[in-house]
Amino acid sequence: MKFFIDTANLDQIKEAQDLGILDGVTTNPSLMAKEGIKGAENIKKHYVDICEIVDGDVSAEVIATDFDGMISEGLELAALHNQIVVKVPCTKNGIKAVKYLSTKGIRTNCTLIFSVGQALLAAKAGATYVSPFVGRLDDICTDGIDLIRQIVDMNSYYGFETQVLAASVRHTMHMVQCIEAGADVTTSPLNAITGLLNHPLTDKGLAQFLADYNKLNG
Ligand code: E4P
Repeated sequence: MKFFIDTANLDQIKEAQDLGILDGVTTNPSLMAKEGIKGAENIKKHYVDICEIVDGDVSAEVIATDFDGMISEGLELAALHNQIVVKVPCTKNGIKAVKYLSTKGIRTNCTLIFSVGQALLAAKAGATYVSPFVGRLDDICTDGIDLIRQIVDMNSYYGFETQVLAASVRHTMHMVQCIEAGADVTTSPLNAITGLLNHPLTDKGLAQFLADYNKLNG
């Protein structure tokens, strides 16, 4: 089970990396815009900065929606750093681009996945990761975790090597449910990961241990 952090904020990425359990980073154009990163050169530099902080895969999303544009952007992004995974939306051109890039040995993350059929097409095209969006399905009263379960089952039934990267994971309960559903990776804000630490019996137990120690040792 891998933990990715879903942000383009360098301080948060450093904090997550310092925790010692971070496996990668996902970004998207909205997260880059949130950090005020604009202009092609600044965007590319920011991806390299992220790669230099984290020891793992960094998803960088193409903006083009046509096949040729996706390929030329994808090749440019992949050339930036060996940790870059090219993120491509699950459209007809996106699936063609995933196929093209994967045959060139470039790793891809097929994003905006909302159905098991989309995940099947992405896996057949050779995607390294598929990103089903848990929270956005929950937002429209559809069970996002159920989709994770379906894709995990499909991959195991057909033997696809594509990893299920549960995205749009918004809080710690989503994390727990993704673990139970067998997701290979989750991407989330840092507080959804650190929330896994919280247990009142841990706090209570530690307080007792320290109190007992202090009774004798002052
Ligand atoms: C990451 O790959 C996705 O773009 C991201 O998790 C979407 O999350 P959101 O639905 O909270 O914007």
